[in-house]
Amino acid sequence: MTNHTAQHNGYIGGELLAGIDEIVSIISGSSYVVGMTGAGMSVESGIPPFRGADGLWTKYGNPSMDGYSQFKKNPDDWWNRRTNDKIDAHIIELRDALLNAKPHAGHYALVGLEQRGAMQSVITQNIDALDEKAGLQNLIEIHGNRTKLRCIECGERVSLGDFVPMYAPDPCTHCNGLVKFDTVMFGEPIPEDVMAASRSEIDKADCVLAIGTSATVRPASGLLWIAQKAGATIIEINTTETKLTPLCEVSLRSTAGSALPLLLEALSA
Ligand code: APR
Repeated sequence: MTNHTAQHNGYIGGELLAGIDEIVSIISGSSYVVGMTGAGMSVESGIPPFRGADGLWTKYGNPSMDGYSQFKKNPDDWWNRRTNDKIDAHIIELRDALLNAKPHAGHYALVGLEQRGAMQSVITQNIDALDEKAGLQNLIEIHGNRTKLRCIECGERVSLGDFVPMYAPDPCTHCNGLVKFDTVMFGEPIPEDVMAASRSEIDKADCVLAIGTSATVRPASGLLWIAQKAGATIIEINTTETKLTPLCEVSLRSTAGSALPLLLEALSA
């Protein structure tokens, strides 16, 4: 495993370029590359991560793990809490950040990697819809998408666009089931269709590029270990070391916003 510490204060160190070159040679020698992104991918769009120094959980404490059972117990109460702002401070901070967020150069570089066939798909743990906004096609949102509603019975999803519902939506038009945001709550199982699609991509991958994730939350993080066990080469782009670092062929200490455009440029050279 090669550990490359990258740039400081805008100076692109030789280390970073050496790391990019190593990643280029691995990706060029791979036939099926899958990206796995986390909150760090959207930090440069103004969305705080969950863990680490500036993390929401670090700042506000870990969230309760029974969000989903509370919702199912009394969905109207859950929606009413939103209207009278009786919601947790971390949700207000996250909601405001999400409302103003725009894709950054790193998101567009992922689209460029996809368009030139260097990356076959991306599994994101982010609910921010920024990859979709940037134009990524082969995208799996394993924790859901904040701009969609989903029926918890039949799985029907409805796009909200920029509309943010403040009141309980009508039952599912397909099956009359209970409708919630598409985002996966703590204690909620990952929808089967999304989990199956993620597993199918990981099973095809001979290289996985983990970007801005602490690789701590299952089942998403478990897919990285499954891929590595199956022989895929793991590459990491992260500002800090993570639990995944020892499994990586290359671990690049850089931000997503600076490393990914450089990677696209190097692959296009
Ligand atoms: N570029 C690259 N990496 C970054 C950047 C950046 N600009 N900023 C932070 N990071 C790294 C951090 O070092 C950390 O390892 O991104 C990672 C973010 O980790 P987490 O906050 O734990 O986010 P994530 O791995 O996506 O969390 C998984 O946990 O709370 C749940 O549902 C939530 O989807 C989330 C899941």
